[in-house]
Amino acid sequence: MSEGIALPPLPRGTLLDEAARVARLHEALPQIRAVLAGETDEVALQATMACLLWETFAQANWCGFYRRVGDSTLAVGPYQGAMGCLRIDFARGVCGACARTREVQLVPDVRAFPGHIACDDRTRSELVVPVVTRGVLAAVLDLDSPHPAGFSRAEGDALLGLVREVFGEPGG
Ligand code: SME
Repeated sequence: MSEGIALPPLPRGTLLDEAARVARLHEALPQIRAVLAGETDEVALQATMACLLWETFAQANWCGFYRRVGDSTLAVGPYQGAMGCLRIDFARGVCGACARTREVQLVPDVRAFPGHIACDDRTRSELVVPVVTRGVLAAVLDLDSPHPAGFSRAEGDALLGLVREVFGEPGG
């Protein structure tokens, strides 16, 4: 499985309509599961997931993980896209809100989100999914897009299901 996953090629930045994005994601998910099956190394899993989700989410300008490295600190992990902030306190930004609440954060307009961290000022919308392992917040999966409303609730739900399968127990 060295060639990634098979999806119709899309130029970076393409925003399909929601139904087409969800269909593309559901085409990708079984392939992503197959690639990751049997792998247990956390960095290998995060790096490969960041790579394959980057291929899937053409509307994204950033896709990757922030890992919990202290009581209330996240540090950047494997990602694709332009350089991200290295550290994020739980008190700040969309990633911090996800880490604090352990709830999916779907932000259609980051400018309207109090405390949003502008790592890349082209970013207009964001989706952040908690990674909870054995009851502990281990990381967040962050996707950013230069499009307003670049992500949907259905995409967030599907990603939450994937990270629960890969990094945690059902309901974790
Ligand atoms: N915008 C995020 C910070 C992470 S990066 O943009 C890669 C936030 O507000 O949490």
